[in-house]
Amino acid sequence: MQTAAQKVEHQLTDKGYVPVYTTRVIEQPWDSYSAVEHQTWATLFRRQRELLAGRAAREFVENQERFGMSADAIPKFSELNKVLRKATGWELIGVEGLLPELTFFEHLANRRFPVTWWIRKPEQLDYLSEPDLFHDLFGHVPLLLNPVFADYMQAYGAGGVKAAAIAPEALVNLTRLYWYTVEFGLINTAEGLRIYGAGIVSSKGESIYSLESAAPNRIGFDLERVMRTRYRIDTYQKTYFVIDSYEQLMEATRPDFTPLYARLAQQESFPAGEVQSGDRVFQRGSGEGWLDGGDV
Ligand code: PHE
Ligand code: FE
Repeated sequence: MQTAAQKVEHQLTDKGYVPVYTTRVIEQPWDSYSAVEHQTWATLFRRQRELLAGRAAREFVENQERFGMSADAIPKFSELNKVLRKATGWELIGVEGLLPELTFFEHLANRRFPVTWWIRKPEQLDYLSEPDLFHDLFGHVPLLLNPVFADYMQAYGAGGVKAAAIAPEALVNLTRLYWYTVEFGLINTAEGLRIYGAGIVSSKGESIYSLESAAPNRIGFDLERVMRTRYRIDTYQKTYFVIDSYEQLMEATRPDFTPLYARLAQQESFPAGEVQSGDRVFQRGSGEGWLDGGDV
């Protein structure tokens, strides 16, 4: 998606002038947040924290506390960075919105996490189609304090840079992996299934739906299965994938993906809601309320 922060410049190469897309990193304009914007943060923060007690992975809320995130005010990236740099060497950078894919991968590969600086309007509390500060900070940043998850995010970025160079057709498979783990992942804990995906924890409706609804499938994480599965961008997910630990993610993605990409290129993708033979099924979804078509 083209955003205001994405600037087109022309560079002279041996093919003549070609457009290059540069993405400016923006200093968080913290002093310019209005009282209404701080209030939006406060409302969302309180509401989600209440919903997430007993639903989010324990380390998710613990890490928000380590950061000192609270309903009081929109956090300052510079303050969060003091904690983050020391803990895992990651750093938050302010951006205007979604970045070109390769730029995003490069940031992650260098342990920089892009955070949208602006927050949604009061009439958008329940749904927003693009990431804002609440989704990015509340949802993604807490797990960057987890050393294993932090390494996974960096490896994902480096993997994306590599795929863009050697197998660009596999980027769709990497996006599915990110979607079903970083955005919509569940984790199996001694206390039961818990949420760790940022897209879920930042959504009021999906925080409940992902764990408690009878409609979706909940299926054990399997790398190749996940990378073949289409997903939803306009409704709640039809399938959630459950990891046993962040180490499992790290180990499953450690091998060189070159042969995997060659295999994936020969295989059909799976519809978002279909259970496959060989799946480790935690719950087979009833499919109630599912819309036909529209898998991405
Ligand atoms: N191991 C993958 C490769 O060799 C990179 C990767 C790591 C991809 C983590 C996704 C997540 O290409
Ligand atoms: Fe996100």
